[in-house]
Amino acid sequence: MCGIIGVVGSAGALETVLEGLRRLEYRGYDSAGVAFQDHGDLWSRRAAEGTRSVEALVETCGDAPATLTVGIGHTRWATHGNPTEINAHPHLDCGKRLGLIHNGIIENHAELKAALEALGHGFRSGTDTEVMVHLLEDELRTDGDLVAATRRMLGHLRGAFAVAVVSADHPDQLVAARRVSPLIVGMSDGVSYLGSDIPALMGKVDRVFAIEEDHVVDLRPGSIVVTNAEGQVVSPQSVEITWTSEVAEKGGYADFMTKEIHEQPEAIAATLASRIDATGSIQLDDMDFDEEDLRQIDKVVIVGCGSSYHAGLVGKFAIERWAGLPTEVDIASEFRYRDAKFGPSTLVIGVSQSGETIDTLEAIKQARKGGSTVIAISNIVGASMTREADGAMYTRAGLEVSVASTKTVLAQVIALELLALRLAELRGTRSAEEIEQIVRELHSLPAFVAGLVGATKRVEEVAAGISSARDYFFLGRHLGYPVALEGALKLKEISYLRAEGYPAGELKHGPIALIEPGVVVVAVVLSGPMAEKMYSNIAEVKARGATVVVVAEASDQVVESVADYVLRIPDVADFAAPVLAMVPLQQLAYAIAKSRGIDVDRPRNLAKTVTVE
Ligand code: G6P
Repeated sequence: MCGIIGVVGSAGALETVLEGLRRLEYRGYDSAGVAFQDHGDLWSRRAAEGTRSVEALVETCGDAPATLTVGIGHTRWATHGNPTEINAHPHLDCGKRLGLIHNGIIENHAELKAALEALGHGFRSGTDTEVMVHLLEDELRTDGDLVAATRRMLGHLRGAFAVAVVSADHPDQLVAARRVSPLIVGMSDGVSYLGSDIPALMGKVDRVFAIEEDHVVDLRPGSIVVTNAEGQVVSPQSVEITWTSEVAEKGGYADFMTKEIHEQPEAIAATLASRIDATGSIQLDDMDFDEEDLRQIDKVVIVGCGSSYHAGLVGKFAIERWAGLPTEVDIASEFRYRDAKFGPSTLVIGVSQSGETIDTLEAIKQARKGGSTVIAISNIVGASMTREADGAMYTRAGLEVSVASTKTVLAQVIALELLALRLAELRGTRSAEEIEQIVRELHSLPAFVAGLVGATKRVEEVAAGISSARDYFFLGRHLGYPVALEGALKLKEISYLRAEGYPAGELKHGPIALIEPGVVVVAVVLSGPMAEKMYSNIAEVKARGATVVVVAEASDQVVESVADYVLRIPDVADFAAPVLAMVPLQQLAYAIAKSRGIDVDRPRNLAKTVTVE
């Protein structure tokens, strides 16, 4: 998780690093810190003030020398060691000549630390990261070459890392490397930059280079040299940055979550745009394999985490229904460690907003190694998953900053449904007319979503009526079930209230024991054969004293007589309804979180991109 940034050769290097850290806060905000070269010494500052760590760091940098041109910065999401200033990065070596920042986890840190202590190194922090800076201090004694010493240091490490180093003894140079965790670099006007991801460098470069595993980067003013594990110079792949730095600003909204909820119509429209070519065929994005491979598929496995997993659950219905393919959906961290059988006839789809979540990334690598065709659905062009997969499909939702996903989940559902249609087309399980009709229906969604995001009054009234409760159950069936899971996740993420998403049919197998007056049940009732069953389940919880909120379609005549509160969505085809039903639940979570005074963009303990297991 953690965000990293580095700059070499710019007069405004400190401002650039601090500005980058502000944009990287979504990767973690337990602490923040910087280290710069300063006339043969290191100048370093750190702050650990919870969600205002970057702000506090900026304040402590008020006395910075005006001459800083080479330095690194870090925002931390704590794994090993409390979120205190002592554990904040950059970490320094014994001689305070090296400053090091890290994103990831060093799995063998305990044994390395013991060995380093035996050699006389003194540790200041409780982090796994600090072993690296002491290892590097030792390795530098061999020949003083920072690149070679970094490469040797990697040889001692197990785990995941993107690491960057500044040295007081190597003027005008930064060195960085990675394994598993992402690292990008870029250059513009003689200034070289490194970062954990694109937001770090937005507005500074228009093209970034993705660094491969175990490669080491030597950054100097006007030059970036990448070498592989053997020390040979290699050329990294480049990706164009199409986002402008304005997309990383709030644009007049109170917070990023509100802005991103309002951007949902556009996110859906962009994901749907130009998907049907002149021959009437569905267009995916970069598919680097033969279509024949897709025709041979007899099973689909979708993997993802958090909200992306929920989007996958909606996608399952579409693939099974339209393409007639048995489809499993698994949480990536579980999928990785079971004995799943791979092979060329299984299509594995990794769903991830960031394209970097470690469990999803490793799951698709494993699937590919096993011979399966792998497609990554990501919001970030050139993200690690899109490079590891055989094909990539993009959600085109634009940068999402708020930790709780909103617009990207809706766009993921659309992308999965388009992929399902492509599979149906290739397998001949749906006619061209049927596919066209479904796509037409999907195109109606941006206008409906715009109507929903523009109307918050009713949601606020409902929030005011229920927000004193401590316990919430979200129930749904069929396509309403993933919506219930997503609604519960949104509420717990940003309001810190206990919220459980459950298939309504499972109610009687446990959760009903917890239903009593004071508990809120939020039911997602989509039209169709499941509606009546949902109403039976609603009657069961009402009979036990629960307060009931129902998300129902406009034509639902029953709902007013059974619910305490109703949130309406327009009538659409069932496969399109989850996209609409998720919107009032996002708004409900937002309204409740705000009433509790929570910073919705930066909920405690969470990070947007989870790059540690
Ligand atoms: C974190 C975020 C969630 C997100 C999940 C998966 O938990 O807070 O909003 O759904 O990671 O992230 P991904 O980038 O793989 O979609």
